[in-house]
Amino acid sequence: MVGNTLGRPDLHAKAAQMTVDPDGDAVANLTQFEIRAEQSGLNLADGHARQPLTASQSIVIDSLPALFRRAQRGVVPELDREAQVTFLGVLGQRRALTCAEVLSCYSSSVAMEVLARALTAAGLRRVGLIHPTFDNIPDILRGVGLGLTPVSEETLRSADDLEDADVDVLFATTPNNPTGTVLEEERLAHWARWCAERGIVLALDTCFRGFDPRAQYDHYAVLDDSGVEWVVIEDTGKLFPSLDLKVGFLAHSRRLRAPVRQVYTDIMLGVSPAILCLVTALADDAGRGGLAELQRLIADHRALVRAAIPEPGCGRWPDPDSRISVDRLALPPGLVASRVAADLRRRDVHVLPGPKFHWADPAAGEAFLRIALSRPREQVREGAEIIRAYLEERTVNPAA
Ligand SMILES: Cc1ncc(COP(=O)(O)O)c(C=O)c1O
Repeated sequence: MVGNTLGRPDLHAKAAQMTVDPDGDAVANLTQFEIRAEQSGLNLADGHARQPLTASQSIVIDSLPALFRRAQRGVVPELDREAQVTFLGVLGQRRALTCAEVLSCYSSSVAMEVLARALTAAGLRRVGLIHPTFDNIPDILRGVGLGLTPVSEETLRSADDLEDADVDVLFATTPNNPTGTVLEEERLAHWARWCAERGIVLALDTCFRGFDPRAQYDHYAVLDDSGVEWVVIEDTGKLFPSLDLKVGFLAHSRRLRAPVRQVYTDIMLGVSPAILCLVTALADDAGRGGLAELQRLIADHRALVRAAIPEPGCGRWPDPDSRISVDRLALPPGLVASRVAADLRRRDVHVLPGPKFHWADPAAGEAFLRIALSRPREQVREGAEIIRAYLEERTVNPAA
């Protein structure tokens, strides 16, 4: 039997609480681990794009003064539209250009906050949310008082129905972070029909889709054809190493009952036109070969890490098909991710322990570490070697 839920929603408030890591530090969420990683040492923690600029991206950055002047001269809604059209077009999302309302946000987390507040305003309070996934999604949803029920990747991949599906919204991250799992076109069509028949809103976070061509079929065509009410959060921030000059796009169907535009305008007027011009230029470069180059770089870094930390002695790579810019390592039996991450931090390597991704069942996440690949190659290599040395010591001498 395929179980969609991992427990009752009211039990999961506990999982959002502050946890104390093995060094005695209180850690509320994955972002707090990521902030520590920015301070010193090798940062293989956050999923932001920190790989070097490619040659053609460097040319774009060299043209920043000209982009700024262009932004000054331009009409902001036109520059906004140009960024949306260029980015979504490069990622194969052509139907979005005709069927979606798209709101440009400072980041995908801001888009998520707008969505969460709009769902609440429309009285949509119960969300079936993919499990595991990046913790700021459940944290933002819970932060506005929404009730969450976990939906496993396995359910999304192969079930026809959600058991006990008492939800107003079904929310999936595809490709998922940290697993890289992609919701295939036929499965998206299934869930879109399933939601449409029940009046359930279907929401997607596709922030990592640029890494994986399998996630670049036209999702908007599938959603639009199904008649479902839908929302999609897109993101430039995981792709372009632009020091977090980025945009999150909140795209939604015109018939969505949640007042996203109203909430959006409660929070912001719009993204800086200078950032919009930069996004357009980087997306244009992505379409001219930059995206394929990025995918090759991530594949190379993934192969490097997997070779440096070999199975089975140092653990297992549980997501063989993942193409996203992070990779999960399943630890050898007996090792606990929170302890391992704290020990590695003392060796100046920062990675993310799994529990917070498993937002409804943190103990299950203790089996995994997440390692960022969107870094300079040398940092990835050095970090992987330190992790391997640590794991070899611990598996030869577990008490060390
Ligand atoms: C799947 C996913 N969505 C959204 C976000 C939030 O991105 P940002 O911090 O740029 O707002 C993250 C962050 O890593 C993420 O992994």
